[in-house]
Amino acid sequence: MLIYSSSEVEMDLSVVPLHHNKKYMSNCCKLINDEWKRSETARMRSLESSSDKLPTSLILLKNEDVIGHLKLSPVPSIPDACFVESVVIERGLRGKGFGTVLMEKAEAYCKKCLQLKTIYLSTKGQEGFYSKLGYMECQPISIYGNYTPTSTTNHKIMNDCNNSRHGVPKPPPMPSFQVNNKHKTYMKKELT
Ligand code: ACO
Repeated sequence: MLIYSSSEVEMDLSVVPLHHNKKYMSNCCKLINDEWKRSETARMRSLESSSDKLPTSLILLKNEDVIGHLKLSPVPSIPDACFVESVVIERGLRGKGFGTVLMEKAEAYCKKCLQLKTIYLSTKGQEGFYSKLGYMECQPISIYGNYTPTSTTNHKIMNDCNNSRHGVPKPPPMPSFQVNNKHKTYMKKELT
């Protein structure tokens, strides 16, 4: 599956799903681990979970080189949204517009192929990059549970669940860093 392709003199750019192009798995792993160090085994396991349904890893290829990656993860409480994470462009190629190409093609993929309406993300330091792409600051959301911590309605659902009716066990508590971490900025973009 080809999401995007552009041919210019000496430069072929394309954005493709990693799971349809598994030969790039190892180089993709290196690209991400160069930015966020993690065991290769754990990183490969995460990349191997990519599929046509979320989660999906998309890669940006320049000629035959993997120069960018991002992962689209589900938001359990919002079925028509996804959470974009691990956005990275190869160090030596930053500031040349490649991050913009990758994000814009990922948005088109979310809208056309996945029929999603909203993209969420969180960032610590790249707010300027995302606001140039049209992302607006928003309330934190959870990608772990089936509720959002700041939504009154969902708090109510959570409270109902906490009554533990019919002998159903209480769900685990919300990971505290999602609620208390003041350093991350959550942002969202509606895909119009
Ligand atoms: N603050 C303000 N503006 C920025 C920033 C920033 N941190 N980064 C880029 N921009 C601007 C650029 O100057 C450019 O502006 P212009 O159009 O006026 O020239 C515009 O945003 C587009 O920049 P690109 O060249 O398309 O961005 P790039 O290819 O460098 O990719 C990225 C941006 C992905 C953030 C890259 O710098 C990178 O890999 N950084 C390290 C990893 C990282 O922090 N990833 C984001 C984690 S958050 C997440 O995954 C949701």
